[in-house]
Amino acid sequence: MGGNSYLQVGPDFRVQGSCSPEQGVPSVECELLLCMNAIRVLALPLLSLLLLGWREPLSVQGVDQATLTEILHDMPKTEIHTHIEGAVRPETILELAPDYQVTLPANTVDGLKSHIQMRPGETLLDFLKKFDCFRFVFDHPESLRRISYELVEDTARENVIYTELRINPIKHPELLSVDGVLDAVIEGMDQACRDLQVEAGLIVSINRSYSVESAMQVAQAAVARMDRGVIGLDLAGDEAHHPVEKFKAVFDYAQAHHLHITIHAGEAAGPQSMAGAVEVCHAERIGHGVRLSEDPVLERMFQRRKIPLEMCPNSNLLINVVKDLPSYPLARYYHAGIPVTLNTDDRHIFDINLTGEYVAMARHNGLTLAELEDISLTGARVSFLPAARKAALIRRMEKRMAEFEARWRARLGR
Ligand code: ADE
Ligand code: ZN
Repeated sequence: MGGNSYLQVGPDFRVQGSCSPEQGVPSVECELLLCMNAIRVLALPLLSLLLLGWREPLSVQGVDQATLTEILHDMPKTEIHTHIEGAVRPETILELAPDYQVTLPANTVDGLKSHIQMRPGETLLDFLKKFDCFRFVFDHPESLRRISYELVEDTARENVIYTELRINPIKHPELLSVDGVLDAVIEGMDQACRDLQVEAGLIVSINRSYSVESAMQVAQAAVARMDRGVIGLDLAGDEAHHPVEKFKAVFDYAQAHHLHITIHAGEAAGPQSMAGAVEVCHAERIGHGVRLSEDPVLERMFQRRKIPLEMCPNSNLLINVVKDLPSYPLARYYHAGIPVTLNTDDRHIFDINLTGEYVAMARHNGLTLAELEDISLTGARVSFLPAARKAALIRRMEKRMAEFEARWRARLGR
């Protein structure tokens, strides 16, 4: 409300015009007018509360694990941090390998999974090598279209109605250019959105170990596709050995072209890496940020500035960034008012899905259903969509969430 609003309700309650307190002590008529205005403003919400009745938020307390999973599968969700590279179905890798004359280290789904999935004690550096045996899927437009389509399909199957996917488009440039990778991904993503009635946007990711020149080339290719589904620029990879500051010029360029920015930070390095991402490289959101609590001053800054975190609990657990899920700081950040979202990061490398991340936070972080619904909606609120599309997405999410609640109130009889 601006300074010209007719009536403000709250501690500074007053009517502008003839009854403003600046004109002295209000008269009896003036008090009466103030009162009538207050009644008029409050009447509608009070009446609707009386007619509709006040409702406790739907609780899932006491429901068994299988029902909780069913509920959270059914809940409309958003996912804004998911790498195409880490979300290639093992089945698809096996199916495509003969087409490109590639020999895999295993020829069954379980055998392949044991090669590409995380083992106890492994770290981010081990994780970053997991892609080696199936890099061929990123070298051909047809396979890129398919894996992008299938990622949107995997998320839609668990009622994710908005996904932000990301990919590092520098693969084997001698086989397929950065432009070729991005165009194929956009085609696959768009086709899936049309077929499945969901929405998606593409974040282009830069690998921290690459040169500034190649990073700039990636940023330029991203900016050139802002009218075709590219919504953001990301920095990923080896955080501990490649500080964000090296890429300042690249993120200055992205910001100058109004491309949204998110940066992986506070995962393999401490809070100073998050501060650099925000202060030097203009990050609007932080990928992970799990180590934010190590610096209470920075944590207060995130709280004050409401900088969103794209949190990925099982990714952090499997990469050995956190010791367990009960001590996972998502609930702490949420209750401090920092906008947090829940994501898988790399669903097929970790063998997880988004529903499981919500179940884990309900079970181990004590989050209520209302809080999980809020976290899902936060994904829409902090999405990188243009303003009008974002507003429409939030409305669609709210409608779907109300329908979901009504469905489960009836089923649980609560
Ligand atoms: N690339 C894919 N997943 C990543 C992660 N969790 N951290 C850094 N780079 C990544
Ligand atoms: Zn990531």
